[in-house]
Amino acid sequence: MTDFSTIRQYNFPTVIRFGAGAIAELPGHLRANGLSRPLVVTDPMVAQLSFFHEIRRALESKGISVEVFSDIHKNPVKSDVLKGGEAYAAADRDSVIGIGGGAAMDVARAVVLRVHHPRDLFDYDDLIGGDQYVTEEVPYFITVPTTAGTGSEVGRSAIISEDDTHRKRILFSPKLLAKIVFADPLLTMELPPFVTAATGMDALTHNLEAYLAKMFHPMCEGIALEGVDLINGSLAQAVQRPDLESRSRMLLGSLMGAVAFQKGLGVVHSLAHPLSSLLDTHHGLANAVNLPYGMRFNIGGSEGKFGRIAQVMGLSRHDGEAVVERLFAFNREVGLPVRLRDIGVREEHIDTLADLAIADFAHPNNPKPVSREDFKKLYTEAL
Ligand SMILES: NC(=O)c1ccc[n+]([C@@H]2O[C@H](COP(=O)([O-])OP(=O)(O)OC[C@H]3O[C@@H](n4cnc5c(N)ncnc54)[C@H](O)[C@@H]3O)[C@@H](O)[C@H]2O)c1
Ligand SMILES: [Fe+2]
Repeated sequence: MTDFSTIRQYNFPTVIRFGAGAIAELPGHLRANGLSRPLVVTDPMVAQLSFFHEIRRALESKGISVEVFSDIHKNPVKSDVLKGGEAYAAADRDSVIGIGGGAAMDVARAVVLRVHHPRDLFDYDDLIGGDQYVTEEVPYFITVPTTAGTGSEVGRSAIISEDDTHRKRILFSPKLLAKIVFADPLLTMELPPFVTAATGMDALTHNLEAYLAKMFHPMCEGIALEGVDLINGSLAQAVQRPDLESRSRMLLGSLMGAVAFQKGLGVVHSLAHPLSSLLDTHHGLANAVNLPYGMRFNIGGSEGKFGRIAQVMGLSRHDGEAVVERLFAFNREVGLPVRLRDIGVREEHIDTLADLAIADFAHPNNPKPVSREDFKKLYTEAL
């Protein structure tokens, strides 16, 4: 029974300019807001791509001074953020633009926090109440996603790891929302098939976990189901024969997943995060492999919701097991493994993985409580 005497908060605040060619509006937007000295945060790969050079040229041709910071890790760490903060100050910047996948956008967001917040970066960790220290102004922040996965472009958190332990910490504040997102599917056209598949399964995981998460939030649930539909119908095409339509649907589906997961995530993300900490596994790949197992764990108690997911996915049977079978088949269809042993996990890792998973921030919102024993069982099953 839903308790309607509780007051809840629902937020859908970000301005999103979505569509082929939207990136062309970036220089004019900066100018219109009196900004001319952005720090562009990206990753070392994206910094080499031709669209990145074009964005830079377009900005410079409007008299905008561009400083690029791209010295970041695949799973970003605190020292990346500190260096980015130094680059902002040294080059006297007035704004931050994050261009890239979740890694680049998360570092950009953490740099936005860093600029006027000098405490130790992890004092701002949301899990220890760090958002209370996010009291100062932050620089104007713009995001430009170039993968369709994390949806970090519309997020208010940055996932940054400790340099030594690689434990993932979460920096959170509504102040860290981008003022505007330029979501241009043309920037994702050349994403390689593996990255398309892995990031796309991350987006699917966000929508599924958000839909199932235990908070009462029908608006997010509506968005999540529509996100599942978009991804279910376009990811295979985006991997195998990418075109503007499949890339556009994926970019929206991923963005919607992140809008929806303000409702919460769940067991799959908690299974996945330790793989990145321990084995540097790509976030999306880690989610993809764990997704069918985690969803099977969640069926009991959420049968009605699984029925709706099955319906949205166009399955012939409307039950949880049909969804799980579809997810196994989906991974195979987009060329991803379905076993943890295929991504380097060994039996001797399981205890450490279970310790990390139980300490993770995602599973408290899972529809069903998850114990350390459950994590061990799920890893063993997926091995
Ligand atoms: N903030 C959040 O809410 C949130 C949510 C989920 C995950 N994350 C974080 O996001 C990160 C993962 O992000 P991701 O899945 O986008 O991967 P990513 O940012 O690591 O990018 C994957 C790869 O694709 C390359 N790439 C990016 N755009 C490209 C393009 N257009 N063409 C060709 N190559 C391109 C990158 O250089 C990189 O090698 C992790 O650090 C994870 O912790 C954050
Ligand atoms: Fe994710």
